[in-house]
Amino acid sequence: MSPALHFSKGLDDVLVGRSTISWVGGETGDLVLRGFDIRDLVPGVPYESVVHLLLRGDPPDSDPSPEVVAALGAARAVPPGLEHVVDALPPALPPLEALRTIVSSLGDGSYGYPPTPEEGLRLIARTPVLLARYVRRSRGLSPIAPRPELSHAANYLWMLRGVDPEPSTVRALEGYLVLLADHGMNASTFALCVAISTQSDLVSAATAALATLKGPLHGGAPARVSEMLDAIGRPENAGAWIDARLARREVLFGFGHRAYKTDDPRGVILHELARTVAAPELLALAEEVERIALAALRRARPTARIYTNVEYYSAVVLEAIGLSRELFTPTFAVARTAGWTAHALEQAAENRLIRPDVEYVGAPKGRRWPRALSGR
Ligand code: ACO
Repeated sequence: MSPALHFSKGLDDVLVGRSTISWVGGETGDLVLRGFDIRDLVPGVPYESVVHLLLRGDPPDSDPSPEVVAALGAARAVPPGLEHVVDALPPALPPLEALRTIVSSLGDGSYGYPPTPEEGLRLIARTPVLLARYVRRSRGLSPIAPRPELSHAANYLWMLRGVDPEPSTVRALEGYLVLLADHGMNASTFALCVAISTQSDLVSAATAALATLKGPLHGGAPARVSEMLDAIGRPENAGAWIDARLARREVLFGFGHRAYKTDDPRGVILHELARTVAAPELLALAEEVERIALAALRRARPTARIYTNVEYYSAVVLEAIGLSRELFTPTFAVARTAGWTAHALEQAAENRLIRPDVEYVGAPKGRRWPRALSGR
């Protein structure tokens, strides 16, 4: 390894670029999108306007962004070929696996390099439309046509259920989508940027991002938070359950973050949202488990500075919205298509192939292939 190279496992504390999209203040508990504090965006700012902000750099002239509303509404009508792909998927496929295939199938030659905002708006519009179609088909229900006049959040719920969603439910989902729309150079965004840096196209890069979002150390955690709360069942069981898990050196889902060494501001806002929509028993259980878990983590890992992360109250809010657990991570992806698009545009605008190095620690040069194998 050249002495100029610096090794950091997990790329901790390594800058891989410069970005104007979002700032994660890990020490101060901040998330800023294009200069706007996330606390000033949720509740209140429509997801469509945040898409506008992320893709165009500035807020729209009016809320919700007329440009984004029109583009998303128009792109909800998908070509029959894409519907055929969705309908051909085996119904036993979990929605996240199906979504990976669905996003990949959007690459019908109409996405090129460099990526464009229009391509991104198509990706953002069609991800929930095709996901909802798959979910209904896999449950033996007939698909429901999109409604261009509905907001992004409302149309997703409409297409999943076929009934007009409650305004409070739409507001909760809208807040969730904005909170999860972008988050610095997280693992899925980095995977996307690596793909774009090879001059690949947006849907190929989004497929790589989705594959990366899947894991429980990133976007795959919220359903596991719900399973954990189910397993604990009652607040009085929490202490013993958590201690046993930590003794086995297993992680507690919904806690800890590579960047945040204090409260994740999205988690704080989601907790507030949960207070307005969650069932009182589930909220009470979640709050008590959180209190006991934080105390146990402080005892078990006194130097690690582990706080509640975004996924903990995401799980409570998504339960309250009435989404099935297998839709938790796909819904995270629905939100994040906005941030992924913004980062793809930014990466392509000042592209350099992302190609790091590794320190080789294998056998030294000079091994000889066994004669008996090749007869040489
Ligand atoms: N439960 C138990 N122990 C934990 C937890 C946790 N939730 N989080 C961190 N630790 C431990 C680590 O295992 C590590 O222990 P070690 O030194 O004995 O190996 C120590 O605390 C320090 O961890 P960090 O270096 O601060 O954590 P890292 O940056 O590697 O990991 C991560 C962050 C992956 C999110 C981790 O906290 C974790 O696994 N959390 C649980 C899964 C989860 O909630 N994932 C969602 C993350 S949010 C998102 O991506 C959208």
